[in-house]
Amino acid sequence: MSGIAYSSRRFTFAAAHRYWVDRWPAAENERFFGRLTVPHGHNYALEVTVRGPIDPETGMVINLTELKAIVNDTVIERFDHADLNADALFRGRVPTTENIATVVWDLLVEKLGAERLWQVRVWEDETLFVDYRGEA
Ligand code: NI
Repeated sequence: MSGIAYSSRRFTFAAAHRYWVDRWPAAENERFFGRLTVPHGHNYALEVTVRGPIDPETGMVINLTELKAIVNDTVIERFDHADLNADALFRGRVPTTENIATVVWDLLVEKLGAERLWQVRVWEDETLFVDYRGEA
Protein backbone atom coordinates (compact mmCIF):
# COMPACT_ATOMS: atom_id res chain seq x y z
CA MET A 1 0.00 0.00 0.00
CA SER A 2 2.55 2.55 -1.12
CA GLY A 3 1.06 3.75 -4.39
CA ILE A 4 0.18 7.20 -5.56
CA ALA A 5 -3.45 8.31 -5.50
CA TYR A 6 -5.11 11.11 -7.46
CA SER A 7 -7.75 13.04 -5.56
CA SER A 8 -10.05 15.59 -7.21
CA ARG A 9 -12.39 18.21 -5.93
CA ARG A 10 -14.98 20.09 -7.98
CA PHE A 11 -15.81 23.79 -7.70
CA THR A 12 -18.12 26.11 -9.61
CA PHE A 13 -18.03 29.79 -10.45
CA ALA A 14 -19.94 32.12 -12.74
CA ALA A 15 -17.99 34.62 -14.80
CA ALA A 16 -18.28 36.87 -17.82
CA HIS A 17 -15.89 37.19 -20.75
CA ARG A 18 -15.55 38.03 -24.35
CA TYR A 19 -12.97 37.00 -26.93
CA TRP A 20 -10.94 39.83 -28.37
CA VAL A 21 -7.35 40.22 -29.52
CA ASP A 22 -6.40 43.84 -28.89
CA ARG A 23 -3.85 44.10 -31.68
CA TRP A 24 -6.29 42.85 -34.32
CA PRO A 25 -8.66 45.22 -36.11
CA ALA A 26 -12.31 44.90 -35.07
CA ALA A 27 -13.23 43.25 -38.37
CA GLU A 28 -10.61 40.54 -37.85
CA ASN A 29 -11.87 39.86 -34.31
CA GLU A 30 -15.42 39.60 -35.59
CA ARG A 31 -14.41 37.33 -38.45
CA PHE A 32 -12.44 34.96 -36.19
CA PHE A 33 -14.52 34.96 -32.99
CA GLY A 34 -17.98 35.87 -34.30
CA ARG A 35 -20.54 36.28 -31.51
CA LEU A 36 -17.91 35.42 -28.89
CA THR A 37 -16.73 39.05 -29.16
CA VAL A 38 -19.94 40.04 -27.32
CA PRO A 39 -19.68 39.94 -23.49
CA HIS A 40 -21.53 36.92 -22.08
CA GLY A 41 -21.38 34.62 -19.09
CA HIS A 42 -20.76 30.97 -18.26
CA ASN A 43 -21.28 28.73 -15.27
CA TYR A 44 -17.83 27.24 -15.10
CA ALA A 45 -16.82 24.11 -13.26
CA LEU A 46 -13.28 23.60 -12.02
CA GLU A 47 -11.84 20.23 -11.05
CA VAL A 48 -8.54 20.34 -9.21
CA THR A 49 -6.58 17.08 -8.94
CA VAL A 50 -3.77 16.58 -6.46
CA ARG A 51 -1.58 13.50 -6.29
CA GLY A 52 0.61 11.90 -3.75
CA PRO A 53 1.06 8.97 -1.45
CA ILE A 54 -1.85 8.14 0.82
CA ASP A 55 -0.98 9.21 4.33
CA PRO A 56 -1.10 6.01 6.38
CA GLU A 57 -2.66 7.78 9.35
CA THR A 58 -5.25 10.03 7.71
CA GLY A 59 -5.88 7.84 4.65
CA MET A 60 -5.74 10.96 2.48
CA VAL A 61 -3.53 12.40 -0.26
CA ILE A 62 -4.25 15.89 0.99
CA ASN A 63 -6.49 17.32 3.64
CA LEU A 64 -9.54 17.96 1.45
CA THR A 65 -10.75 20.71 3.73
CA GLU A 66 -7.42 22.47 3.24
CA LEU A 67 -7.66 22.00 -0.54
CA LYS A 68 -11.18 23.45 -0.54
CA ALA A 69 -10.01 26.51 1.41
CA ILE A 70 -7.01 27.09 -0.86
CA VAL A 71 -9.06 26.90 -4.08
CA ASN A 72 -11.86 29.03 -2.66
CA ASP A 73 -9.50 31.73 -1.40
CA THR A 74 -7.19 31.73 -4.43
CA VAL A 75 -9.48 31.11 -7.39
CA ILE A 76 -13.19 31.14 -6.62
CA GLU A 77 -13.26 34.39 -4.68
CA ARG A 78 -11.28 36.04 -7.45
CA PHE A 79 -13.28 34.84 -10.45
CA ASP A 80 -16.84 34.22 -9.21
CA HIS A 81 -19.12 36.93 -10.61
CA ALA A 82 -16.12 38.60 -12.23
CA ASP A 83 -15.46 40.07 -15.64
CA LEU A 84 -12.48 37.95 -16.65
CA ASN A 85 -11.34 40.46 -19.28
CA ALA A 86 -10.93 43.05 -16.51
CA ASP A 87 -8.67 40.84 -14.36
CA ALA A 88 -4.98 41.70 -14.57
CA LEU A 89 -4.19 38.02 -15.15
CA PHE A 90 -5.98 38.23 -18.51
CA ARG A 91 -4.33 41.40 -19.70
CA GLY A 92 -3.10 40.62 -23.19
CA ARG A 93 -4.50 37.09 -22.86
CA VAL A 94 -7.88 36.06 -24.29
CA PRO A 95 -9.96 34.48 -21.48
CA THR A 96 -10.55 31.20 -23.28
CA THR A 97 -11.09 27.98 -21.37
CA GLU A 98 -7.47 27.10 -22.17
CA ASN A 99 -6.15 30.32 -20.71
CA ILE A 100 -8.41 30.10 -17.66
CA ALA A 101 -6.93 26.65 -16.98
CA THR A 102 -3.36 27.98 -17.21
CA VAL A 103 -4.14 30.99 -15.00
CA VAL A 104 -5.78 28.76 -12.39
CA TRP A 105 -2.79 26.41 -12.55
CA ASP A 106 -0.36 29.29 -11.95
CA LEU A 107 -2.38 30.51 -8.96
CA LEU A 108 -2.66 27.07 -7.39
CA VAL A 109 0.83 25.74 -8.02
CA GLU A 110 2.20 28.50 -5.80
CA LYS A 111 0.08 27.22 -2.91
CA LEU A 112 0.09 23.47 -3.52
CA GLY A 113 3.47 22.92 -5.15
CA ALA A 114 4.17 21.22 -8.48
CA GLU A 115 4.68 17.88 -6.72
CA ARG A 116 1.12 17.79 -5.42
CA LEU A 117 -0.85 19.66 -8.10
CA TRP A 118 -1.47 17.22 -10.93
CA GLN A 119 -4.21 18.68 -13.12
CA VAL A 120 -6.59 21.56 -13.50
CA ARG A 121 -9.73 20.83 -15.53
CA VAL A 122 -12.00 23.72 -16.47
CA TRP A 123 -15.47 23.11 -17.90
CA GLU A 124 -17.01 26.02 -19.77
CA ASP A 125 -20.25 24.10 -20.18
CA GLU A 126 -21.30 20.46 -20.35
CA THR A 127 -19.75 20.04 -23.79
CA LEU A 128 -16.32 21.68 -23.42
CA PHE A 129 -13.47 21.21 -21.01
CA VAL A 130 -9.72 21.80 -21.00
CA ASP A 131 -7.08 19.95 -18.99
CA TYR A 132 -3.83 21.63 -18.03
CA ARG A 133 -0.90 20.04 -16.22
CA GLY A 134 1.68 22.79 -16.39
CA GLU A 135 3.80 20.92 -18.89
CA ALA A 136 6.14 22.91 -21.09
NI1 NI B 1 -17.91 32.22 -23.78
